Amino acid sequence: MVKDWNINIYCLIGDPIDKSLSPIIHNYIFQKNNINSVYVCFNINEKDLKGVLDSFKILGIKGFNVTVPHKISIMRYLDEIDDEARYLGAVNTVKNIGGYFIGYNTDGLGFIKSLEDRNIDIVNKDILILGAGGASHAISTKLALEGANKIIILNRTLSKGKKLATEIHEKFDNIKLECDTLDNFHKYLNIDMIVNCTTIGMYPDIDSSPVDLSIFNNNIIVYDIVYKPIKTKLLHMAERMGMETIEGIDMLINQGLLSQKIWFNYGTNDVFKDVDRLKKLLNGY
Ligand code: ATR
Repeated sequence: MVKDWNINIYCLIGDPIDKSLSPIIHNYIFQKNNINSVYVCFNINEKDLKGVLDSFKILGIKGFNVTVPHKISIMRYLDEIDDEARYLGAVNTVKNIGGYFIGYNTDGLGFIKSLEDRNIDIVNKDILILGAGGASHAISTKLALEGANKIIILNRTLSKGKKLATEIHEKFDNIKLECDTLDNFHKYLNIDMIVNCTTIGMYPDIDSSPVDLSIFNNNIIVYDIVYKPIKTKLLHMAERMGMETIEGIDMLINQGLLSQKIWFNYGTNDVFKDVDRLKKLLNGY
């Protein structure tokens, strides 16, 4: 129960944001650390983004997360973008310092941490990335940075996939890159890992899957960054085929805790100590 109503507000902006688990993560951390703050969600239409950010400054919102579909478009409205976010081409965390908005990206690090936790080494691996939006930008670039051998980007809108591939190529001229439309996935079976960065399978579209896994070898790793539902249709299919699976809540928790680190200047050692507790908590939703 809130004891002091002179409270700081943190939030998530996106569209859609129903069923987001971010409030559970952040309010749990606030409560545990005795921080007089609350985290809420705002469903924001693209056309209102600029006005919303102006009003956040007036209201003194201390920090916020950014999700689908604003992770790239928000960048033009921020006062500063830190190096990692600029490099990864997307922002998912904003800190308000006295009316000055600084954009960060915690998706990339959150994603890599979830691989490290499983001792998954992506050096020299061939990775199929589904989607070319904000999350895909951060993840693909991070995978290239971490030494992947080949990245294949499949996206419904080919032009967006090509744009992302070009951006990655400008940063890493040695990496092997391919790009195609999503429905051509059957041409790319010789891979080590699939990462779904599309919103296909996300609530309420829970009966959809971005690809049919039955044509792939069962020694691939399937990572779905969609976390609502926690086990998507893609992950159910992967489990049935005996593939190693990684759920989107792993990345969600990691990126959320890294956002808290940015907002409250936590030391690196303290950041991930609540991961297991949060995982149990979120599995109940
Ligand atoms: P995020 O910030 O989470 O990455 P986003 O930037 O809105 O979200 O990106 C969503 C991704 O899901 C895009 O790659 C999008 O494909 P398009 O670039 O063609 O829009 C993909 N996506 C969303 N709905 C889709 C659908 N029904 N079929 C195929 N791809 C879809």
